[in-house]
Amino acid sequence: MVSEQLQQARDFEARYMPFIPDTERPVFHVTGGIGWINDPNGFSCYRGEYHLFYQYHPYSTKWGPMHWGHMKTRDFIRWERLPVALAPDTEADRGGCFSGGAVEMPDGRQLLLYTGVYHVRRADGVMEEYQTQCVAVGDGVNYEKYPGNPVLDGKDLPEGNSMLDFRDPKLWLEPDGTYRCVVGNRTADGSGAALLFESPDGFHWHYAATLDACRNEYGRMWECPDFFPLDGKQVLLTSPQEMAALGLEFHAGYGAICLLGSWDSEKRQFQREKVHSIDYGIDFYAPQTLESYDGRRIMIAWMQNWTNSNCQPMNARIFGEMTLPRELSIRNGRLVQNPVRELERFHGHRVAYSDVLVSSETNMQGVSGRVLDMTVNVRPAGRGYNWFKLHMAKSGEYATTIRYKPDCSTVRVDRTRCGIRYDVVHVRDFLVRPRDGEIKLRVVMDRHSLELFVNDGEQAATFIIYTPESADSISFEADGAVLVDVEKYELNIP
Ligand code: FRU
Repeated sequence: MVSEQLQQARDFEARYMPFIPDTERPVFHVTGGIGWINDPNGFSCYRGEYHLFYQYHPYSTKWGPMHWGHMKTRDFIRWERLPVALAPDTEADRGGCFSGGAVEMPDGRQLLLYTGVYHVRRADGVMEEYQTQCVAVGDGVNYEKYPGNPVLDGKDLPEGNSMLDFRDPKLWLEPDGTYRCVVGNRTADGSGAALLFESPDGFHWHYAATLDACRNEYGRMWECPDFFPLDGKQVLLTSPQEMAALGLEFHAGYGAICLLGSWDSEKRQFQREKVHSIDYGIDFYAPQTLESYDGRRIMIAWMQNWTNSNCQPMNARIFGEMTLPRELSIRNGRLVQNPVRELERFHGHRVAYSDVLVSSETNMQGVSGRVLDMTVNVRPAGRGYNWFKLHMAKSGEYATTIRYKPDCSTVRVDRTRCGIRYDVVHVRDFLVRPRDGEIKLRVVMDRHSLELFVNDGEQAATFIIYTPESADSISFEADGAVLVDVEKYELNIP
């Protein structure tokens, strides 16, 4: 049954979406139909395709009562828009359908597990938000909410844990048929934790273990956890609120971190070994993964940051987009990310140069554009160099710059002159592995986004720019002398 609220959202899209021309959207990154989006949800395999839902408020470009928008793809590049999947329309989720996961059930149905939110005014007048976990089941287009919702609430939590911050279940099915999910929560010390719950059928759930807890070390509340094996390790991803800055590894505010360790599935024990940031740019939050049909672990994230999300371009009709899906692996004890290999199928016109000597600012014929996949290899020439800069989306007053300094092994992304007229973070520095002055930079650009992958994915840095599309020049500059190889592809996405 399609509720009034869901029908209203679908009608709203049908009526107003046609007014948004394709030129207002990125070419191959996921956007909402209209209005606002945040976290990716339910990123999963279903009937031979990949489904992606997202936090959605169609009615304005600001966050509001959360719906689930819906898209699907076969190649992670070309997406098909599906009708809005969930609206806040039941007792348990009348305040919003927050983030969650999805899985294909053995009987062929698709199970969605999401956070249902409702508000209650306390005796002293304060409004409190309760967060519970709810289920909906469907056929890949339409979903019925389970009458027994919520399937998990405050009563299911360990003593002292918060029922106000209890959200974002990420769901998977174990080979033995057990459903498991990891949920973000807040423990008695006020900081975050990732909790494991189990179910024999997807509808009846119980608490199984606390996988890891923040203990006020990595931010406060842990949002949007994900938990999966990768290359012999176990990975816990989470997006902490209120991070404190630490060196060049963690920046203040909303972060996204990777906890690497080992996992004893029988004893339900996760042993954390290492923690590092997932993305060193500005706009990256709430990543979620799936295991592809051919066994790759693929991650997608919201290409935004809550702190900046009020700083929108004038007259925008859509706000928020997802990152390019990325293939994950573990190398040298770190999470490595690279663009999904499917992107290469869409490589169009190629321009390549090798061993170009760069000292002062240099342009290369044919190297420009705003929708592209470009790899730049840099190595010292002669006595070496103090810094190398790659300027993108450049013209007149505009430029977005990636700078590498070999003496301190730091990369700086700087979008100060990208056209954003708000005083928010525009610069980030991060450490990369020293390689005798060599560095490899791969940049994937899609109109107003820039995703940088350093040294074959050892670091990624993602950010949004507001630069007019006419600013499409690219230049190379060095203090000292470098030899540069460039390989640039246009991307042709039908
Ligand atoms: C993370 C988040 C989630 C929540 C959702 C609400 O960005 O705050 O914790 O489920 O957004 O839209």
